[in-house]
Amino acid sequence: SASDNGTGAARGLWSSRMAFILAAAGSAVGLGNIWKFPYVTGENGGGAFVLVYLLCIAIIGIPIMMSEVFLGRNGRHNPITSMRLVAERNLRSPLWRISAVVGMIAAFVILSFYSVIGGWSASYIGHAAMGDFSGGTAESIGELFGGLLSSPGQLLIWHTIFMGLVVLVVSRGLKGGLERVATILMPALFILLLLAVGYAATTGHFGEAVSFLFTPDFGALSISGVLIALGHAFFTLSLGMAIMMAYGSYLGRDVSIARTAVSVAIMDTVVALLAGLAIFPVVFANGLEAGAGPGLIFQTLPLAFGNMPMGTLFGTLFFVLLLFAAWTSGISLLEPVVEWVEEKTSLARTGSAILVGLLCWLLGITSILSLNLWADVAPLGMFERFEGKTIFDLLDFFTANIMLPLSGLLTAIFVGWFVAKESLKLDLALDGGAFSLWYGLIRFVTPVAVIIVFAYNLFG
Ligand code: PHE
Ligand code: NA
Repeated sequence: SASDNGTGAARGLWSSRMAFILAAAGSAVGLGNIWKFPYVTGENGGGAFVLVYLLCIAIIGIPIMMSEVFLGRNGRHNPITSMRLVAERNLRSPLWRISAVVGMIAAFVILSFYSVIGGWSASYIGHAAMGDFSGGTAESIGELFGGLLSSPGQLLIWHTIFMGLVVLVVSRGLKGGLERVATILMPALFILLLLAVGYAATTGHFGEAVSFLFTPDFGALSISGVLIALGHAFFTLSLGMAIMMAYGSYLGRDVSIARTAVSVAIMDTVVALLAGLAIFPVVFANGLEAGAGPGLIFQTLPLAFGNMPMGTLFGTLFFVLLLFAAWTSGISLLEPVVEWVEEKTSLARTGSAILVGLLCWLLGITSILSLNLWADVAPLGMFERFEGKTIFDLLDFFTANIMLPLSGLLTAIFVGWFVAKESLKLDLALDGGAFSLWYGLIRFVTPVAVIIVFAYNLFG
């Protein structure tokens, strides 16, 4: 609000370090862990990919997350204003806030289609619970998925429900909304995931999954696999979208940014690995293809659930888990923009949340139509590179491959090269060795790595 005095007292703070960690982990843990990580691991040969991915999390993901949280907490406003304030305090150009602008536009656009996919998860809870997968064949389940994608009406209903759930929570604010939902859903998600792993252990193919995930076969790892690992490190930790800046703006001054960032990264990684341990035994037990691609979750797994003992129960559980994960991530995508609207206009939180949610919902309709009525509409089809790409494909491409790395790169350069070292030392409160390590990573390693991925995605 306009009366914000910048101390953080007026705008509220997370009630504990744990509340922040769970909310940030709620953002990080999403479809990326449960849907994307298993299939990119499957496509890139397993263990060796996992190893590279872990390295990327450690030397790129964590340093950038720390930078974003630092910017938010130091600025104590919405991401754009925070970056401007930090720039001004360091006698730098206010234009550095472009990094937050790019991140927030990305968050808004990503939410528009993330909500459509979140809607699929919601609709699959119903299918699983009603036994629609029982005795299914690859064909019947393919038809079920195809039927959903080809029906604008069904997609719209689920998209509306998902967006409604997100707006509902964000409109209730920090403690009554974001924090409350994260502290309930994250432990629940973890328990559901452990149950799913326990179930996977009964398939008799658990050992196979463990060796698939943890035995490095460097022969199966290509250069593009390495770059995918790097890009995924970004996406999975929700970086480059101003989210950690927004969440950091409510973080108490006494909390260690480094320790919290490491905790969030560990939780995210543990969930991704557990998801792999839950999914691959089922895949192997049913003779399915580990590198089945994006269809793994919505086509391959239901087939398995439909033909296994207790498949109805565990299938339902699995999609509830997926919905929880997507929900807390959706919330975090809406928060930065809502925080900005709330501070910049006379609208209160509820009004801001409804307004932004409504606009985002509208944009999401273009993704829905891309799956059916507009499946042949390729707005950039005149360029060879974008031939056949629908609006949905383009939104995904431009956010993931251009906006996120760009925002992350600018953040790393700004924090590494244009913020006073003393100010960083004071806020991060690390001991000498740890600080030097982080500082070296954010100044040199992170920017170079991001530029390489960036160039590869654009021109490779
Ligand atoms: N980090 C989330 C995941 O792994 C994805 C996400 C990206 C969520 C951006 C929110 C914002 O699925
Ligand atoms: Na993630």
